[in-house]
Amino acid sequence: MSSLTPHFRDLQTLNTLTLPCQAQEFILLNDLAQLPALSALYKKNQKSINTHGFTDQFSRNNFSELDTTNPLNKPHKVCALHILGGGSNLVLPRVLRQPVVHVQLKGIRLLKCNGDAVGDASAASASASDNNERSKTHNRIRVAAGENWHDCVTFALNQGWYGLENLALIPGSVGAAPVQNIGAYGVEVAQLVESVEVWNLKTEQIETLSAQACNFAYRNSRFKRATESNEIIVAVIFALPKTWQPVLNYPDLKPLAERHLKHPESITAHDVYQLVCEVRQRKLPDPGVMPNVGSFFQNPIVPREHAEALKKEFPHLMSYPQADGSHKLAAGWLIDQCGWKGKRLGPVGMHASQALVLVNPGGGDCDDVMALANVVRQDVQARFRVMLQIEPICWAET
Ligand code: EPU
Repeated sequence: MSSLTPHFRDLQTLNTLTLPCQAQEFILLNDLAQLPALSALYKKNQKSINTHGFTDQFSRNNFSELDTTNPLNKPHKVCALHILGGGSNLVLPRVLRQPVVHVQLKGIRLLKCNGDAVGDASAASASASDNNERSKTHNRIRVAAGENWHDCVTFALNQGWYGLENLALIPGSVGAAPVQNIGAYGVEVAQLVESVEVWNLKTEQIETLSAQACNFAYRNSRFKRATESNEIIVAVIFALPKTWQPVLNYPDLKPLAERHLKHPESITAHDVYQLVCEVRQRKLPDPGVMPNVGSFFQNPIVPREHAEALKKEFPHLMSYPQADGSHKLAAGWLIDQCGWKGKRLGPVGMHASQALVLVNPGGGDCDDVMALANVVRQDVQARFRVMLQIEPICWAET
């Protein structure tokens, strides 16, 4: 069994909000041979969590005001092992005593028609012959969890494997993409994921979960929903259709379709990639320059009656009807209307060009972030009778 060498590490440079966080036991995962040792560590720590009741301890700490009073809130994660990818969708506490595993597994390859090797043999969802059929119509690529997401999008594009371009420039790692079902400019990663390979910490095996088994929903999945997950994502298998069609229905991308009105077939995946990069660079702060985790709240989904009542009071309300009759509201617009766009509270604030993005220019910590999140939520609730849900995953202090 390959051994692990846990050591102390401050995670400030490993999370894009730059929150200070002392990890007492930091482990780099860059080899599949380390997985059995992680299982042993997981089992040992799970016992310790059960004995010390971290959930109770956590509910008394600084997030309690936000999370115990409102049943709509998701629980914070109390983990026997904390799995860290690019740290671009996380709110970290000041201290983590339970081990933090930084996934750095690398590799991208096109799966061949026959004998797809790792993981595919045990696929619960698709037989080898299904995969063979699929390979005729799709480029099927296996990407290790520690690859950088944007680099993966760029690499695929340059290989002629199209379909990921609307998701260009999203910060983070490939392994994190299915967790929150990243989405932008009319595409969600769920549409392109064929399966996800996980190491099951309990059974000590690599398992292949079909996209259906991942239970994808808007910014959600089985991985994000689980309050205590026993799965580490080691790779994602994408199926990208060989017959490519641009997705240009999002308002920001319409100009491209309009420019090519007479010859829509001349639009290339590179055109879409470039425009998405331009729009993101214009609208969203670069986490390398202005610390943030992208959208800090989900766009709320409300019953039709609620949206209609609000529309009477606020004729400019941004509201999008959903297939089931409910309406999705633009949280950025709601926050903007409450006067929070570009406004600060201590070291943190809401961004000046996209009010949905919480930024940390002043080097704040998790208390500062949660204090601002609380006030924004209260203001939006008071004005629009909508309780915003925090989008990034919040880890409990352990
Ligand atoms: N709006 C405002 N004021 C603001 C921000 C937005 O009025 O301060 C309005 C915009 O004018 C627009 C509407 O709200 O009419 C929606 O804004 P935008 O197109 O910027 O998208 P969003 O709904 O705020 C979502 C995703 C983003 C993704 C964009 C583009 C969520 C939580 N956010 O934002 O994802 O990049 O669409 O597809 O679904 C992320 O998840 O981290 C993220 C950045």
